[in-house]
Amino acid sequence: MKHILAIDQGTTSSRAILFDTDLSVTATAQEEFEQHYPASGWVEHDADDLWTSTAGTSREVIERAGLGPEDIAAIGITNQRETTLVWDRATGRPVHNAIVWQDRRTADLCRDLREQGCEAQVTEITGLLLDPYFSATKLKWILDTVEGARARAEAGELAFGTVDSWLVWRLTGGKVHVTDATNAARTMLFDIRKGVWSEDMCRMLDIPMAMLPEVRDCASDFGMTRPDLFGREIPILGIAGDQQAATIGQACFRPGMLKSTYGTGCFALLNTGDAPVASKNRLLTTIAYQMDGKRTYALEGSIFIAGAVVQWLRDGLQVIRSAAETQGLAERADPGQDLVLVPAFTGLGAPYWNADCRGGVFGLTRNSGPAEFARAALESVGYQTRDLLEAMRADWSAEGDTALRVDGGMSASDWAMQFLADILGAPVDRPKVLETTAMGAAWLAGQRAGLYPAMAEFGETWALDRSFTPAMESDEREARYGRWKRAVAAVQAV
Ligand code: G3P
Repeated sequence: MKHILAIDQGTTSSRAILFDTDLSVTATAQEEFEQHYPASGWVEHDADDLWTSTAGTSREVIERAGLGPEDIAAIGITNQRETTLVWDRATGRPVHNAIVWQDRRTADLCRDLREQGCEAQVTEITGLLLDPYFSATKLKWILDTVEGARARAEAGELAFGTVDSWLVWRLTGGKVHVTDATNAARTMLFDIRKGVWSEDMCRMLDIPMAMLPEVRDCASDFGMTRPDLFGREIPILGIAGDQQAATIGQACFRPGMLKSTYGTGCFALLNTGDAPVASKNRLLTTIAYQMDGKRTYALEGSIFIAGAVVQWLRDGLQVIRSAAETQGLAERADPGQDLVLVPAFTGLGAPYWNADCRGGVFGLTRNSGPAEFARAALESVGYQTRDLLEAMRADWSAEGDTALRVDGGMSASDWAMQFLADILGAPVDRPKVLETTAMGAAWLAGQRAGLYPAMAEFGETWALDRSFTPAMESDEREARYGRWKRAVAAVQAV
């Protein structure tokens, strides 16, 4: 029993990663699944796809490593957050496709609630803003739209969950309906100060409380897997939303420590300790983790387009064949040109929260080509990260570490990370292990299973691969950032 199975159920794929007693990766398996776009701005997943790709990769990774179920001490789950599922408790059948965090169908409902003056109360209770991003309005949409759903929910026949809840329900054969505090904190129904579901929020959105899962610590007994799934029952001992799991995997355990993960989007979390910090700059207040009933809070900045801008270069503009080509192109870009790309493909996230604006390119010349676009795309990620960090600095003045710990696909690009350090004017630290999200989930389960060390000792194992230090003159930095801010203002003005 020397391994921990980490399940990382993400927006575009499900992954299973095995960690050994040293917290080293033994094997990985990954499966992509279909994205459904039934209308403009709508994004759905088939709930069964989430489950079958998770079960399939979990079994595959154990086999690939040449291990058996007796070698797996425990399972830790991390997941795309906010994505909303409702299923029938008796049959386990979902009443609708999962509505994905990126889905904007409830923008009008959010606007109405804002106009009714509800946002201050939402922020006070949940730490969030009134935005379609979070689960609650998606859940209300399902109850209002699927015939008979509301009556069945009120009768206690339907269950709501984020992806972690859905997976635990399926893994345990419908025996356990739970979530953890980090996922609960993203629903817009959870009182992050008291650590309980909020009756006021449920009343505001007309959500029957009978459908909500029980909320537990991130490291807790979440149930045993069905014996037939792996050949024996395996305990599920850890759960955290993916950005919180990355915060744990990056060992950001002290107030002031900060990480940024570059996937499809980019999510920066700043540990603010045991008291929630209310943002004056439109960041989110969220739960970083809850251990032994004690909550640690974070300020979060969420950007919707980071790696997705490179996908756009590949699939939309078709100027690259693979993401890896971007760095080489950026290096060859004409230094005399100053293209600024604002990738507001689906509006802007933090700190602007403008769902209606769209992207723009500034500074085009006749010589602007793939290289200049590639450089502008990578730079846009750096600029957006600076937007988040500026807001964080304004909200959080306490002394802390200044280095930003990075992970996720784009952190592998030296060019992008150097530009990030340059534009931030602060060091950027890349760890040796880039599987930080899965590692966070594995650590939660493994320390509960008695396999891994406690938090402080685990934090000491974090190892640096490379530190990027700012090399840009401050005049140039500020001039460039000023251009970016004007470009962002322009896309919001047209
Ligand atoms: O809040 C959304 C986030 O959890 C999604 O992460 O990595 O699946 O794109 P990812």
